[in-house]
Amino acid sequence: MLKTNAGFFSRGVSKLTGQYNLLRSLGTLTVSLHSLKLDLEEHLGAEVKLARLPGSGACLVYAVLGLEEEPLAVLKVASRWRERRAYRVNILKRNFRYLEPAQRFAREHEILETLAPHDLSPKPLAATEHYFLQAYVEGPLVAELLRRQDPRGKYWWFEALKALRAIHAWGIAHGDARPTNAIVAEGGVKFFDFEHCLDTETVSWEQQQAFDVLRYFANTFHEGFVTDANFVDDAVEFVYQELPEVVRQELPTSMKSFGFEPTPFLCRLCDGASTGQADLLSDLRG
Ligand SMILES: Nc1ncnc2c1ncn2[C@@H]1O[C@H](COP(=O)(O)OP(=O)(O)O)[C@@H](O)[C@H]1O
Ligand SMILES: [Mg+2]
Repeated sequence: MLKTNAGFFSRGVSKLTGQYNLLRSLGTLTVSLHSLKLDLEEHLGAEVKLARLPGSGACLVYAVLGLEEEPLAVLKVASRWRERRAYRVNILKRNFRYLEPAQRFAREHEILETLAPHDLSPKPLAATEHYFLQAYVEGPLVAELLRRQDPRGKYWWFEALKALRAIHAWGIAHGDARPTNAIVAEGGVKFFDFEHCLDTETVSWEQQQAFDVLRYFANTFHEGFVTDANFVDDAVEFVYQELPEVVRQELPTSMKSFGFEPTPFLCRLCDGASTGQADLLSDLRG
């Protein structure tokens, strides 16, 4: 049996209500705790507690727990100051179209409605102006397996890459594909966190798919997750053999930063056609 990420869910439960109220009183959250809880309880038909989950995206993410602290769902709530930061960092810098939380939540709901029946994402439960609710998925994140050098990590990393391509086949680009947004569940790897828009008129569908794959690579090999040289070789081999169209894609400069400074590896990947497989490998290992 794969180990669960439920550890995340038990953290900080006792402190939560206070913390949440404090944030609300500072005007951080866009909705009151009281109405949010009532909404969730009506929706889930049970009394609930909330526990903050780690995450650095534009929203605050909470585990919705039953009274026995059993996970019932995962909740994303809009936050004013995070919204301002997301706007500044992602939208102004990358020149993407800005979507209000309500629009992003509606879109994420729609995406999950398409993908969940195919075991590619969690089930969506609700999307409102202030929050997005999705089913809780039991299982370790691909990132966790890699971090703890679990021997199954490499296998699931490739499965996640295949799941990402299956998502593309449904006409959906993730926008923030990375091992921390992929979870190993009963029916295979599911991706979540589809909120990051690559919504721009200047990026073609082919470029969006390439961006997903490259970001997934960049995030894996530059976070110190992977130290195994064979893994690196196999990953590069896979892209060159199975996804040649990805390495041929020229990405707009605004997409090259991937949330951090472009590395020689990324620039080479982005410049695809002129990059030899051997050069790429030496960058990755370097
Ligand atoms: N449906 C889910 N089931 C289980 N855990 C989840 C689910 N959605 C999110 N998580 C957990 O919450 C964390 C943060 O969620 P995420 O949507 O990635 O937010 P952020 O935009 O802050 O990265 C994830 O890293 C994961 O551990
Ligand atoms: Mg995430």
